[in-house]
Amino acid sequence: MKLAVLKETRAGESRVAAVPDTVKKLVGLRYDVTVEKDAGLVSAFSNEDYEDAGAKIAATAEEAAKNADIILKVQRPDANELKFFANGAKLVGILSPYADEESLSEYARAGIDAFAMEFMPRITRAQSMDVLSSQSNLAGYKAVIDAAAEYGRAMPMMMTAAGTIAPAKVFVMGAGVAGLQAIATAKRLGAVVSATDVRYAAKEQVESLGGTFVVVDEEAMKDAETEGGYAKEMSDDFKKRQAEFVAAHIAKQDIVITTALIPGRPAPELVSDGMVRAMKPGSVIVDLAVEQGGNVAPSKAGEIVHVDGVKVVGHNNVPGRLAADASSLYAKNILNFLTAFTDAETGTLNIDMEDEIINGILLTRDGQIIHPAFAREPEPQAVVAEVVEADEDVKE
Ligand code: NAI
Repeated sequence: MKLAVLKETRAGESRVAAVPDTVKKLVGLRYDVTVEKDAGLVSAFSNEDYEDAGAKIAATAEEAAKNADIILKVQRPDANELKFFANGAKLVGILSPYADEESLSEYARAGIDAFAMEFMPRITRAQSMDVLSSQSNLAGYKAVIDAAAEYGRAMPMMMTAAGTIAPAKVFVMGAGVAGLQAIATAKRLGAVVSATDVRYAAKEQVESLGGTFVVVDEEAMKDAETEGGYAKEMSDDFKKRQAEFVAAHIAKQDIVITTALIPGRPAPELVSDGMVRAMKPGSVIVDLAVEQGGNVAPSKAGEIVHVDGVKVVGHNNVPGRLAADASSLYAKNILNFLTAFTDAETGTLNIDMEDEIINGILLTRDGQIIHPAFAREPEPQAVVAEVVEADEDVKE
């Protein structure tokens, strides 16, 4: 089967969906791999590296995608790229359907089977395919490095002949994959770390990393986790109490890292403009949720906003700021997914519609939107016709 790796076209995307190591393994699975010229350059992988791994280099996206059975991307393709995809092609990427539901109709119309890697179920078998985990882990690390770079003071305690420097106080809001890595990184840099989450399960994980877990309402937290391991939207009462608590705690912090997300919804606002203003000048906030609407009221995607001497950092695509590692881990996630569904004898991809993984990530198939979160209701006309007929029966 022909597999194409396209160069990313969206602004600020520095990652690539296959790296030379994974290309070598895909070739080993008998895929015929073509990589668009310069697809890996920003992630520091040259065209020669891909050729050495067994790929052909295509001069354009059109040439790479032509007749490809499988197309690998990081972000969803734009309308111009979609034109090159063959009917029946399988598209694998972080497709963000909530951000653009119309894209699903476009895939269906073009006859593309679209696999959204970020919908990977959180089951043990799929852990090695979990792109949210691999990318969030790097984002959590980089958020602390970015915060340290913006902070005009040292992170660890230093006792010198000229005096003592107090350690930075770091508060992490949302202790999922990114938050836990942020806690571990801030601890390694010598900060005093506290963290909070709505999920009770996070308490033990924070404490095992040496952070202090700050609790808002222990009872409410016991019911805050979905079966998939994600947070639920909390009640207005919980949000109010959380806000009061955060206002008091945050005023004493030097650095705040926010990572709170609720799948399929805008990120919850956890830090108001007033809370930011209550922090000491020189403090830094990094809002990792900025692209999903933000956890911090004044944060702006792609900007560092200054509020009364507090820097509010809202970098876009934080994993992409570590492009080589983010690409390697993402490419490995995709390789693991393809390997699990490839018949190594024939080098073909077998899509088992009964499989929990396929059910979780397949958005469109055979010209239809099939994912349960997006599948459309039947047209209402059919129902109206039935009602009219029933009325006529009554009249008779
Ligand atoms: P996420 O990126 O959706 O959210 C980040 C964090 O924000 C979560 O911990 C969530 O509970 C928290 N949050 C949401 N609303 C909040 C609020 N109002 N205040 C404070 N915190 C709030 O979640 P992520 O990081 O993708 O994963 C969450 C959990 O899923 C992990 O900690 C882990 O336990 C589990 N997981 C399981 C995997 C597996 O079994 N294969 C793989 C990865 C994660």
